[in-house]
Amino acid sequence: MTQVRDPKREAAQQALAWVRSGMTLGLGTGATAAHFVSLLGRRIGQGELTGIRGVPTSSQTAEQARRAGVPLTSLEELIRDRQEGSIDPDQPLLDLAVDGADEVDPQLDLIKGLGKALLREKIVEIHAGRLVIVVDDSKLVPRLGTKCPLPVELLPFEAAAHVAWLARAGCRAELWLGPDGSPVVTDDGNYLARCWFAEGIAEPQSLARKLADRPGIVEHGLFLGMAHAVIVAGPAGVRILER
Ligand code: A5P
Repeated sequence: MTQVRDPKREAAQQALAWVRSGMTLGLGTGATAAHFVSLLGRRIGQGELTGIRGVPTSSQTAEQARRAGVPLTSLEELIRDRQEGSIDPDQPLLDLAVDGADEVDPQLDLIKGLGKALLREKIVEIHAGRLVIVVDDSKLVPRLGTKCPLPVELLPFEAAAHVAWLARAGCRAELWLGPDGSPVVTDDGNYLARCWFAEGIAEPQSLARKLADRPGIVEHGLFLGMAHAVIVAGPAGVRILER
């Protein structure tokens, strides 16, 4: 088997096999998704893919896609196209979304958001007919929350109260601060908390419901039942896990 030098890039490269001319794509955020955007831009530039339109999941990805020559659109524009009849009303707005992840468990459930874009990622990716996740093999875990914290997006209003509530939900929770000690602010002007679970997250579904019910929590980084396939690259090669 050939040695994979850069697993993130290799996983992104493999995801290109899912892309066809004319597709509408969700464009993820993070280093692995950035490889996908630049490889996609190159294929478009070479004329090998035409009629592609991407919906970015962060201002960072939008900027990168513009530089890479990937034409951009929005869910709003696609809804207009659907109303005008140029998109089949029974089809999802996006044919495919490609994004990275922070953790992947054996059910292909995910933690996402340590790139600070979980809200826009979820908003875009629920509209994808297929969500393909691209990761290096360090992201595979037996249980979510074992290697990395769960990011949670919060309204800035009374953020300390949301963090205090999180800290009573079975984890150690902290407001995410930047290098200058002030709260990290997302593209939508919100704050983020990070939640560490000593034994990992025992029941992701029930935690997701609990977080969704709490006023002041805008969104969380549990992406459950969303990924259709995960492309995993490691030094020894690439494999595809499918739901
Ligand atoms: C962005 O908010 C995240 O969900 C990223 O997809 C995740 O952090 C993976 O990032 P890397 O590809 O940089 O590891």
